[in-house]
Amino acid sequence: MKRFPDNFLWGGAIAANQVEGAWQEDGKGLSTSDVQPQGIFGPVIERVPGDRSLKDIAIDFYHRYPEDVALFAEMGFRCLRISIAWTRIFPQGDETQPNEAGLAYYDRLLDELARYNIQPLVTLSHYEMPMGLVKKYGGWGNRQLIDFFQRYARTVFQRYQHKVKLWLTFNEINMSLHAPFTGVGLPGDSSKGAIYQAIHHQLVASALAVKACHEIIPDAKIGNMLLGGLMYPLSCKPEDVFATLQENRSWLFFGDVQCRGAWPGYMLRFLREQQIELDITEEDRLALRETVDFISFSYYMSGCVTTDEALNQKARGNILSMVQNPHLACSEWGWQIDPIGLRTLLNMLWDRYQKPLFIVENGLGAKDKLEADGTIQDSYRIDYMNDHLVQVAEALEDGVNVMGYTSWGPIDLISASKAEISKRYGFIYVDRNDQGEGTLARYRKQSFWWYQQVIATGGANLKP
Ligand code: BG6
Repeated sequence: MKRFPDNFLWGGAIAANQVEGAWQEDGKGLSTSDVQPQGIFGPVIERVPGDRSLKDIAIDFYHRYPEDVALFAEMGFRCLRISIAWTRIFPQGDETQPNEAGLAYYDRLLDELARYNIQPLVTLSHYEMPMGLVKKYGGWGNRQLIDFFQRYARTVFQRYQHKVKLWLTFNEINMSLHAPFTGVGLPGDSSKGAIYQAIHHQLVASALAVKACHEIIPDAKIGNMLLGGLMYPLSCKPEDVFATLQENRSWLFFGDVQCRGAWPGYMLRFLREQQIELDITEEDRLALRETVDFISFSYYMSGCVTTDEALNQKARGNILSMVQNPHLACSEWGWQIDPIGLRTLLNMLWDRYQKPLFIVENGLGAKDKLEADGTIQDSYRIDYMNDHLVQVAEALEDGVNVMGYTSWGPIDLISASKAEISKRYGFIYVDRNDQGEGTLARYRKQSFWWYQQVIATGGANLKP
């Protein structure tokens, strides 16, 4: 195999609400994730004393991070994608002063990463926001959220300016269209107009965060984060091909705004036809002109589009539903496995934006078995990742600028869509089950040693 560049950022990606636990510790406020104990598609519930959610403890990364970071270092990680829980810094979201205990926690975590020369890549908002902002202000539907987010972003830029040089604004910003509560703090049955207005506010907040980052940490780079929802036409019927273009635009639109600095024409037409009139001020237009330095995205699967209603059988995904591709196999969770799609996507994004790309999520959610001798044989995960990384190498050969690859969930964590831990992504097994039982002990899986070799050899051990 051709080697990856020496400066390629190999690593893994986690999110605060899926690993930390400690949901009420050190002054942390209630987040949108805390009130969805069954995950993104579960109900929003009022938390009452004594009730339980798997996420309350998660994998207890809040307390166990030194052990976990040491394991990441043992694998040779050069980069760890983490997120900051907004509610640790501004518990209700509208305070004027940050919570020092929350800031101090991330200082400790970042210092631990620095000890091992693991570069942090920090997402400002990964599927959570303060419930205070939802209850009091109506979430991102309210323009004031832009200011609250500014305060939060500026606070963490100032605080960690010497420790963090790679940032991301909103995780999978395009998924608000499918999960509005998680994305923008709006009820699931909100009108399209309300959702797009909230999205607009979030896009402005993202652009202002990019500006603030450039001002406060001039040597940092800040990117956006898209759910790479690659779609193919199910047939070569021109109607299917055009419908696919439109479907891809429904998520690429976010990238267009964040990379090109304005709402694209096809979206303005869509809004007109839907009779949606957005409040977009002159100031907003100016703000949007500040574009990201690089593009990051998640990639798990691809899907198909058809205009034929009879064929419109939807496949399952965590957020998107898509038509089954007859040429692809599925994971245990029904996600269609398509390594070549990753090469296609990398080329497509590079052709469109000519900005460096960072794969910040990819991996296989599967059921693993902890053997009596403490081993876990997860050859299926190795196969999945091998095949995807081979396609990344191909894209590099194609001339695409790929900065790095952080696999999703290098340590088992709580899944986002259904809040289960039995869907495991890790190279490191965590002893906990969906009922919350287990010691939380960590075990190295077969894939742990394999990924360690991938990093050590710069991909030379991959099998084409
Ligand atoms: C992405 C999210 O959508 O997919 C992660 O950014 C999430 O937070 C990942 O965990 C995998 O989805 P799931 O539902 O299997 O956890």
